Amino acid sequence: MKFAGKEEHFELRCFGCKQTYNIDDYGKFYQCAKCGNLLEIRIISKYSSKAKQLRQGLWKYIDSIPLWDDKNIVSIPEGWTSFVECRNAAKILGLKSFFVKFEGLNPTGSFKDRGMTVGVSKAIEQRYKSTMCASTGNTSASLAAYSSRAGIKCIVLVPKGKIAMGKIAQAIAYGAEIYQVEGNFDDSLRVAREICEKDSKILLLNSLNPFRIEGQKTVAFEIVEQLGSMPDYVVLPVGNGGNISAAWKGFKEVSEFGIEGSIGAHSSGNLPKMMAVQAEGAAPIARAFKAGKRDSIDPVLDPHTDASAINIGSPVSWMKTLAAIYESGGIADYVSDEEIFAAQKFLASKEGLFVEPASAAPIAYLLKLARAGKSDEYEAMKNSTVVSICTGNGLKDPNAVLKGVRPDQLQTISADAKSLQKILA
Ligand code: F0G
Repeated sequence: MKFAGKEEHFELRCFGCKQTYNIDDYGKFYQCAKCGNLLEIRIISKYSSKAKQLRQGLWKYIDSIPLWDDKNIVSIPEGWTSFVECRNAAKILGLKSFFVKFEGLNPTGSFKDRGMTVGVSKAIEQRYKSTMCASTGNTSASLAAYSSRAGIKCIVLVPKGKIAMGKIAQAIAYGAEIYQVEGNFDDSLRVAREICEKDSKILLLNSLNPFRIEGQKTVAFEIVEQLGSMPDYVVLPVGNGGNISAAWKGFKEVSEFGIEGSIGAHSSGNLPKMMAVQAEGAAPIARAFKAGKRDSIDPVLDPHTDASAINIGSPVSWMKTLAAIYESGGIADYVSDEEIFAAQKFLASKEGLFVEPASAAPIAYLLKLARAGKSDEYEAMKNSTVVSICTGNGLKDPNAVLKGVRPDQLQTISADAKSLQKILA
């Protein structure tokens, strides 16, 4: 079904100087011709399609997504992930109300599927035959899956030796053309941008692509629907800065336009504070925030963290990320790798949620606040509703857990009940 006139409700504009562009020209260029900043899609006025259909996953929000014909949708489907109340964790963290939005339950095991279903659908609408991304793992797995389903070619660049085994296996299985770059993620993205800027037939689908953000913003719509109100705090890991920008955009749209088709969700109320958590060895945003910077960051030239998904030193969406933090009254902070792996174990053993290391960074931050006790942030959070977006599935990176296994956690026994009885006694 073609949505006649839908285009008029959206615009493509520069995040910096607000110059506007034809939305369907995106892909011919990737940044503002005037000032070089990233572009964003903005809803000018609420669109409402007349013919209502039952749609799966996040495509129930199709009126808020800039796709002009639903025959172009490439979906597995994705979104409508579990929203888990975590009472055991809340007790230990000293929080009144704590929820995990488990994005690891998306089809390829991470939140990237929200962005890719929209990004690849748009690629089909714009008749692209090839897609490309640079990735620390999850983006490549997701783009590979959606491109194969769409029947188009997918090229991915990954930093050699720096991505989790499960993620590279996914990209191989989905049939992507994979190149391991001798360098880090930031180098890989630089190469991908150069290629796509020169070859207009390949669409770049990193999170600087604003259509990806339009998919990822739906996590905010779902949180408000599943909670029945706006949360007070949203804590999430930050790498390149796409996801926090997207979630913040989503909450602002809920506040301005409401949520289509929702029953009983209260979109009014204060917007949540966005809490950005990075890994200590790759924390340019957190360091900029702590230094009180608003208009720049100092990239980390040699980023290092074993939470490989967020091992990024030069986040492309730093400006959108700082805007989300400052506009919402949030914060940015970092945690050590040790704290991250302890938090991963904590969430799995207390709540039955196995998330990947990067996704445990926000939990590590909350544990750190609780342990430190009195701080203004913690005092304010204690009686509030806190939501952590856990971005990826722990099964993607099992080595992290297996590396730390103790002999008593994995014992060998002979195949008779008596020997086990002895041990159990
Ligand atoms: N959590 C996970 C599991 C991720 O894979 C990523 C990013 C992030 C958090 C951070 O999100 O970049 O939007 O701030 N992974 C990208 C990738 C970079 O290539 O898979 P962000």
